[in-house]
Amino acid sequence: MSIGHRGVYRVVIQHVKTLLGRQISFARVFGFICSFLLSHFPLIAAARPSQKLGLLLPNRSFYVSEPYLASDLIQKEKHSESHLVESREYWWNNDYLELLSQRLDFKHCNRMADIGCGQGMMSFLLAPFLPENALITGIDSETKYLKRAKQKARKVSTKHQVSFNFVEGDAQRLPLESNSQDMAFCQTLLIHMQQPEKVLGEMKRIVKKGGYVVAIEPNNLASNLMFDNYSQTDYNVEEMLDFLEIRLRCEKGKRQLGEGFNSIGDALPDLFAKAGLSDLEVFISDKSLNLIPPYNSREKRLRAAQLIEWIENQTGGFGYDENLRYYKAGGGGKKSFDAYWQKAYRYQQNMLTELKNQECFLSGGNLMYVVVGRVPE
Ligand SMILES: C[S@@+](CC[C@H](N)C(=O)[O-])C[C@H]1O[C@@H](n2cnc3c(N)ncnc32)[C@H](O)[C@@H]1O
Repeated sequence: MSIGHRGVYRVVIQHVKTLLGRQISFARVFGFICSFLLSHFPLIAAARPSQKLGLLLPNRSFYVSEPYLASDLIQKEKHSESHLVESREYWWNNDYLELLSQRLDFKHCNRMADIGCGQGMMSFLLAPFLPENALITGIDSETKYLKRAKQKARKVSTKHQVSFNFVEGDAQRLPLESNSQDMAFCQTLLIHMQQPEKVLGEMKRIVKKGGYVVAIEPNNLASNLMFDNYSQTDYNVEEMLDFLEIRLRCEKGKRQLGEGFNSIGDALPDLFAKAGLSDLEVFISDKSLNLIPPYNSREKRLRAAQLIEWIENQTGGFGYDENLRYYKAGGGGKKSFDAYWQKAYRYQQNMLTELKNQECFLSGGNLMYVVVGRVPE
């Protein structure tokens, strides 16, 4: 190799090293992904052949310590996407849900409405805490999710001794009678709404006096300031600011386009008060969506499989066009976005390798609010 070639080689290597520099933490990539997941869950959750979930159980063919387990899962379930839906079931600690059920007096809740229920994930998680013969009504605008919710309801109704009724409808004009429910709740619905106050108004309308309105919504920007390991705490301020600029503009852009706001959780107490709800209380989920080696539980393997799927297929937050659209709507330009994208892409590839080797650490910090209000007597 000539001296000239070596010089070029050194420059190229230096660039690659810079691009691979860990200035963007996995937590921030993960936060970015999570916020996108929340806004695109319906697409991701399209299929759910539950029989394939056996593949994920430890007593089946996938052995816990297999190094490429998550990747194998992806290969085998490439089109099923079932693990993407299932990993959402690990969004809550069960004892925390039990605590909530006590705080919100679930044992006297005979009529509960799940607004924007999707496939009814939260309805099924809360059902065990309701009294016998209670009825949970799930409302969603997407028939394909309701169909899956109904299929699952047929399997679990007897077990929980609770009935489920999944109905198509618009959250802004709920197909339920006024004063008919003891509680109405939504989970990651308001982040999609151009006018969340309208939905809260409807939830208030259908709840009886003294009953509860509950909104479970995140602040997805918060995770952008989280670290995955100690070395990242020695960060480069300018690079961090560049990254935050991208995230802030994307969030703002989504709002500008009327597609909701992914960090609406913080603003809910204000919206609840404006909706005329009383006795406001704010709780925060104690669940960490962590990924700490070894990946020796079904929950961790699902989470790893989900991340691998997103990175490999450029879904779940990795789509260039969509992010650029939000960024531009938030006041950004293509040139700065492309510079960021190039760096982020290389970082993702690094993360992908670590995930497949089960070496990737995520502390799993996230900020999910549970905001509660009552309909005044
Ligand atoms: C992120 S998903 C959350 C699903 C479910 N709450 C959960 O936590 O698993 C948002 C859901 O809101 C539904 N949705 C969006 N806009 C709606 C509207 N205007 N009326 C009713 N449902 C709506 C979508 O179809 C989707 O199922």
